[in-house]
This record gives sequence, C-alpha cells and structure tokens, in this order.
Amino acid sequence: MSVLLQTIKLCLNRKPYNTSYCKCFSFRNKSDNSKRFITFDEVVAQRRAEAQKSLVVQVNSESSFNELYGYCSKYATVNDVHHYKNSNDEHYMLIEFSSEDNMKDVLQACSAHQKDVDIMSVQSPFLWFRAASGAKEKFPASNKLLAVKHGSCKIDEDVLFDELQNCETVSHQLQLLYDQTKLNDMDVRLRYMVARQLEVICSSLYANIAIKPFGSSVNGFGKMGCDLDLVLTNIVAPEMMDSKRRLVYQEKKCEGGRSPWQRHMELVATLLELRAPGAARVTRILNARVPIVKYSHEMADLECDLCYNNTSGVYMSELLWLLGSLDSRVRPLTFAVRRWARACSLTSPHPGRWITNFPLTLMVLFFLQQKRNDGIVLPSLKYLVKMSSKEDVRIAEENLNCTFLRDLNKLPEDSYSQSKDDLQTLLFHFFEFYAQFDFQDRAISINEGVPIRKPNALPLYIVNPLEPSLNVSRNVSFEECERLKMEVRNAAWHLESVLDGKKTDDWGLLGLIEKKTTRSLKKLLRVGNTHRLVSVKDLFVEDGEASEIKKLKTDEDIED
Ligand code: GTP
Ligand code: MG
Repeated sequence: MSVLLQTIKLCLNRKPYNTSYCKCFSFRNKSDNSKRFITFDEVVAQRRAEAQKSLVVQVNSESSFNELYGYCSKYATVNDVHHYKNSNDEHYMLIEFSSEDNMKDVLQACSAHQKDVDIMSVQSPFLWFRAASGAKEKFPASNKLLAVKHGSCKIDEDVLFDELQNCETVSHQLQLLYDQTKLNDMDVRLRYMVARQLEVICSSLYANIAIKPFGSSVNGFGKMGCDLDLVLTNIVAPEMMDSKRRLVYQEKKCEGGRSPWQRHMELVATLLELRAPGAARVTRILNARVPIVKYSHEMADLECDLCYNNTSGVYMSELLWLLGSLDSRVRPLTFAVRRWARACSLTSPHPGRWITNFPLTLMVLFFLQQKRNDGIVLPSLKYLVKMSSKEDVRIAEENLNCTFLRDLNKLPEDSYSQSKDDLQTLLFHFFEFYAQFDFQDRAISINEGVPIRKPNALPLYIVNPLEPSLNVSRNVSFEECERLKMEVRNAAWHLESVLDGKKTDDWGLLGLIEKKTTRSLKKLLRVGNTHRLVSVKDLFVEDGEASEIKKLKTDEDIED
C-alpha cells in the first residue's frame, strides 16, 4: 500500500477521542521530521483513482458478500468490498478492484436487463447482482472479509446524546460529536462514485471533462448526509494550447442567444434523466448567476448540486481543507458551531435571509486567527499567500487569483497552533469573541486575520477570501444578524455556567446542540404523555430531526 494511501486510511480511521488540545493523535506531529501534511491535490487524486477502479453493486443483503466476491474474483482482483444500505433499505457493495483495467474486465462480463426491451441498459459504475439461475455456483469461503459493514449509517441521535451526556468534559463532547458525525471513508468513496458516474456518461459526448466534488464533501467540514456539490470542468491539456500546432479543431458556435454552458448544462440534465441510473428529480436552475442542475441520487442517498466551471469553488474547498488540516482542533470546533447554529435555527436547509454553513465556517476560522494570550491557532490567508511560490499559482474563472501555499510542510512551525487552549476553552471564547464583536463597523476577513472596516452598511460582512470585494453573507438580514448576536451571547452564558462546574441535564454541548423542543418532546415521551400528541410521526420534519412540536396544547405544557 502506498504511503499516501496509508496516511489517508490512518487519518480516516482515527480513533476517538483525545480530550484537550490533541497534537498527539494528529498525523501532524510537530516533532516528526517526515512529511507531516499531504496536499489537497494528493487526496483528490487518490480518491478519483479509487473511484476509477470501483463499482457499486446492488445486492440482496450483506450476506451476498461471499457470492459476489467469489463471482467478481473470477474476472478480476478485488482490493476491498464496502457495504452500505440506503434509506430505502436497499443493500449495496462498493467494490474496489486492483486497477481500472481489472475493473473493466468485470464490466466486459456484465449483461443487460433482459426482461424489458423498453429499458435501455446503461454502462455506468452502478450495477446489480442477479440471483443465480439454476444450480447455485459454489464459491469457496474466502478469507477476505467485508472492509466495512453498514458503511454510511448515521449514528442514532439518541445514542449520540447519551454518549455526549456521559462525556467527562466539554472538550470530550466536541471531539465525540466530530468523530461520530463527520463523513467517513465509505461516504467519501460513494460521493466520488456519484461524480465518476456522471463523468463516465458525459465523457461519451465530451472529451476532457472532469466532474469533481467540492464544498463540504471534500473540505473537511462535511457531516454525514450533507449535500454533494459537484463541478463540471472542461480540462484543456497544456499541449492543446500549443499555438505551434497547425491543425486546429473547428469550433462549434452556439446559436440562440443563451450562453453555451447553459445549453450544455441543459444537456447534462437530460443525460441525468435518461442515462444515469439512480438519478431522480432532476431540476434545472439555469437562469441563475451560477446555473445549476439539482438532482437526487437514490442509490447513494445523496442530494446533488451540479454547476459548471466553478473552479474557484474547488480552490475555496482546498483552502478550507488546508486550514482544517493545520490544527486538529479546527474541525471539531467548526462541527460544534455548525451544529449549534442549526439547533437554534440560525441556519436552515433552505436558502433565505439567514447565514449558511460556509460563512459560519469562515467565522470560526477567523476566530482562530485572533491573537490571544499565547498566540494564534491559524495563520491568515495573507500569510499563506506570502509563503506561496510558483507552483502554487492558480487562476480560476474570470481571472480570479487563487494563489496560496498548498504544501503546509513549508510553513514555519511557529506560525500556527501557538495557542494551546483545549476545545472547550476555544468554544467558549468563540462565543465570547462574537458576543463582543463590533458587527456594526467591522467586517470578518480571513485574508487579514483581523477585523477590518466594513465597506458598506450591510448587517453582516464576511469577506469572500478568494474575491475580497464580495461579501459572502450579503443575504443576511438585520433581524437574522441580531439573532446571531443574541444566540452567541446565550451560548457564552450557557458554557460559562458549565465551565464553572455545574453539570446539569443539558450540560456543555448538549445545551447548545439539542433543540429545546426535541428535549421537551423526549421528556414528554419518557413520562408517557403521548396521548397529548395526535401523531408522534407528524412532529418530525426536515432530515428526520424534530424541529417543531406542532400538535401539543401549549408550550407551557411541554416545559412541565
Ligand atoms: P453544507 O453543504 O451546508 O454542508 O456546506 P458547504 O460548505 O458545502 O456549503 P454550500 O453547499 O452552501 O456551498 C458549497 C461551496 O460553495 C462552499 O464550500 C464554498 O466553497 C462555495 N460557496 C458557498 N457559498 C458561497 C458564496 O456565497 N460565495 C462563494 N464565492 N462561494 C460560496
Ligand atoms: Mg454543500
């Protein structure tokens, strides 16, 4: 196994949970002189290579493993098999073969759906395993085991809350929340498979197309079940730009006034409908500033947003991934803040006049750039730009300069992680910092790492790191900003009482991430008051989370 693969596996299989500031379990050990950090490009290349030699096969149950493994081994060498179940209770095996050629040998041996001539089979990496006809072929029991069983299964919320209740410290709670809810290896593999599926379909029409995940699927801040942001890019090889070549392809000019890429995206949407098994509910939003195609992938249980040529989105994901890799406290802290914001409805799965996860993440990163007693946790983007060199130059669409240091091994060791505060202290100071922040006059800029003067009167101003003239929270209304200020004050007050040593029913993180209504509902159910509910199922909306108690008599009833 390559060193890179080993490193990735090591990171993904990290065991819970160190409590305080945990240099010791990070793969970035400062005293280790070997390569401490891998680059984002290396991770992406590794994941794409994995997907290129993998297939997803629908099976009867996890016990189909032996038969499927035996069958595939007749054609190719299997590296690993990962099992998962989607929300329709369908079972799937994600099989990684030893090489892409190996995997293609298996595809050569696939058959088409024979029952219905109206159904056109599609050559994509999503297959199903037909039950054996006639006498069952006997496969010797292999000594190979499923690498993962129930791979993308979300942790039960009740179990999670019980575990959080039993933690010794708030730092433990933050680490636990992160470890139990972050995307795992299986989730990430599946996301790259969904990207690969569309890439295979599109490449039968277009040369040089790549489809890559970006956003929280790859930036290190994704929780299980988060949406899958995909970008379709047209990769032009450097030799294709050689002006000395005299034979040049004729161009196809698009007629009809609309931008060519709106039309290409329309075609991709149609391909999704006609040629992508698993893709459903395809919606075209092509007149927006950034045209997107939304669809659900039913086999992978994913909500996907596909856009075109948003390379700056990929670089933004890279930047966030790098800052999250630099210090082991960044991601658990961000997870806690994102979860808290969701619980007090500061964020919502629907777009509107409120803050979203992306600017909220920038707020956490910005807080970690602040110099406190013993120094900063994260450097500013300005510093990463200063440390960059020739190989870091990246220019995205519309000439956006996305140059910053990519290889974190080149950073001086004393330029980050100076502060040794544990997670609970950081979380408390995060709320305290924003409780006192001058939102009226100041803007948040991870480029500068210090508050800067606001260029306009919008209630919340968070500078877009890669396009500093833009505000990524321009949609946030005055009321929502006021609510944000109020909630950070409440959260600081709540944590202060815990840090003073009081351990109540909703101590520490629980009081911040468990919705008041959910807790009240659970209490009610525990004391057998279900007769007061018309239907318990009616209460649960949005992602299966209890977000509203609709049918109870009064709020006062619940609180009792
Ligand atoms: P969740 O999907 O909520 O888990 O987080 P996310 O980080 O994936 O956010 P979202 O799906 O809203 O956006 C995907 C990516 O698009 C983000 O990670 C950013 O890189 C980028 N992005 C989101 N909002 C903005 C914005 O307002 N401006 C710019 N330039 N990029 C944005
Ligand atoms: Mg997203």
